Amino acid sequence: MSSRTSDVLVVGGGIIGLVTAWRAAQRGFTTAVLDPEPGGGAAQVAAGMLAAVTELHHGEQTLLALNLASAHRYPDFAAELTDLTGHDLGYRRSGTLAVALDADDRAHLRELHALQRESGLASEWLSGRECRRLEPMLAPGVRGGLRVDGDHQVDPRRLAAALVAACERAGVTFHREWAERLIVVRERAAGAVTRAGTELAAGQVVLAAGSLSGRLAGVPRDVLPPVRPVKGQVLRLTVPERAAPFLTRTVRAVVRGSHVYLVPRENGELVVGATSEEQGWDTTVTAGGVYELLRDAHELVPGITELPLTETRAGLRPGSPDNAPLLGPSALDGLLLATGHYRNGVLLTPVTGDALAHALATGELPEEARPFTPRRFSAAPAALPARAALSELPA
Ligand code: GLY
Repeated sequence: MSSRTSDVLVVGGGIIGLVTAWRAAQRGFTTAVLDPEPGGGAAQVAAGMLAAVTELHHGEQTLLALNLASAHRYPDFAAELTDLTGHDLGYRRSGTLAVALDADDRAHLRELHALQRESGLASEWLSGRECRRLEPMLAPGVRGGLRVDGDHQVDPRRLAAALVAACERAGVTFHREWAERLIVVRERAAGAVTRAGTELAAGQVVLAAGSLSGRLAGVPRDVLPPVRPVKGQVLRLTVPERAAPFLTRTVRAVVRGSHVYLVPRENGELVVGATSEEQGWDTTVTAGGVYELLRDAHELVPGITELPLTETRAGLRPGSPDNAPLLGPSALDGLLLATGHYRNGVLLTPVTGDALAHALATGELPEEARPFTPRRFSAAPAALPARAALSELPA
């Protein structure tokens, strides 16, 4: 067994683990990441909508504040990463159009619009005709929609690659292996053992393993984050040059109770997502999942049936009991959490990196991240901070 020492060991090298490692290294911590495939995970599947406004839900005002804080940071965050690494993140401020296909959908969107206005968020109600003027490929049956110019997009695969490059430049060490268990010495997290048996000692450990975060051996039961996998199947189509521009912004809707979205990228990729399934660790792409996505997307934008279907994939969102992330120090000394981002991992990447770097340096979360302490799941009810909704169904 060999032993290496760092100030900070991040278990999990998805975008949340990577941004944490990068920001920690920038603060002067010697930092290591433990992951068999850094930059892999849910970011390889996600569409990359930065949808603080269009994915707003009743009762999630606390989460909204964090989502907005992160959305506001995106321009500088993307510019910093691009300047450092030369990677273009595909950060595109082209906005979002949420549309309704029938009277029920329209009532749902009207409610969302009212909630957005109550929350001080900018969105504009459009008639069906106005929606089609903006996006001529929309179905003639579209009954109305909400134009949200502030909800942008980024390409999560490019983001992940840029974060790997930024970490490398900042001197982060990558251990390309699976984590086997946490090392705890005198009731303090002290590193991790890899599946190959290598012991990686560290002053502080950040558990950022997405939906797997609740399964790391060695973490005391009452400290294990209550995250679960929520499967999302996603399709990628290609818009040939002769058909461009197919869509100029993200288009989304709720169709028969399921959310469907189409995210067009400048390189011709069109991402269509996503199912939301409580199926444990299963990541099979099913005929039913693909069928439902294509059926619903086709109702919104009939022309998609002409496009080549280039990729089908399923990923696992790290769901938490209140749909909000778990950030910062856990009840075990030396162990911090950065997990449970559920539907908002890409959006929350900038603010998570900042919050975790602050917590690693000071032992405390910055003000904006305090409601997301993992301790909210173990504290007595009276001590709970204002919380995000417990009852909301996934968007
Ligand atoms: N935020 C989009 C999704 O989770 O499908």
